Amino acid sequence: MPELGVNIDHVATVREARRGREPDPIWAAVAAELGGADAITVHLREDRRHIQERDVRVLRETVNVKLNLELACEPGVLAIACEVRPQQATLVPEKREEVTTEGGLAVLVQRDKVQAAVDQLHAAGISVSLFLDPDAEQIDAAAELGVAAVELHTGQYANASGAARAACLETLHKASAQIRQCGLTLHAGHGLSYQNVGPVAAIDGMHELNIGHSIVSRAMFVGLEAAVREMKRLVL
Ligand code: PXP
Repeated sequence: MPELGVNIDHVATVREARRGREPDPIWAAVAAELGGADAITVHLREDRRHIQERDVRVLRETVNVKLNLELACEPGVLAIACEVRPQQATLVPEKREEVTTEGGLAVLVQRDKVQAAVDQLHAAGISVSLFLDPDAEQIDAAAELGVAAVELHTGQYANASGAARAACLETLHKASAQIRQCGLTLHAGHGLSYQNVGPVAAIDGMHELNIGHSIVSRAMFVGLEAAVREMKRLVL
């Protein structure tokens, strides 16, 4: 049964719409934990469009489950991660102009940079996951960097329908098998929803799913604790 990491970035997005104090992602983490979240996930972006440094620091003190910090391989956020020491860091690519993380990390073309980030996080005692497209070469390259886990980008699967979605699912299955053969822990996330999560949760060896937008969207109508509980039931 996969663990559910609840990404609460979009609670902070609403707060930042007014640059105020509410809704506080710290409250959201508490509600998500009450609903059964196995991890709380936040992305500290370079442009600080939603989660702020203060959020990460307070969450580290208050979250009782695993804290998973998503970050780019950039010195500023890496230094904060190493100081705050979440249990897990997920390295992601970041572009200022994107609405959300559009693709996986390109390990092949920046191997040294990613290796340096991984080593820095390991030295701080943080377990590292890499967010990758379901691409065989990227996965092989990731396995050589000594990370614990790979999170597969499920965005293409989530955006596809019909035969195209079935093909994307097949690609995810193949990539998942490769990740496990490399001895890495299998995670997945991006664009997963109440409607499409089932087949991804059912992939052999799926260990962790990170889901944000659809849970926070549903929470507006049923509350976050209930929204998380509903998602937990679907990933069982
Ligand atoms: N996993 C990673 C690495 C992400 O960057 C994101 C988006 O922040 C998610 C999971 C969650 O995606 P969504 O909000 O579409 O569920």
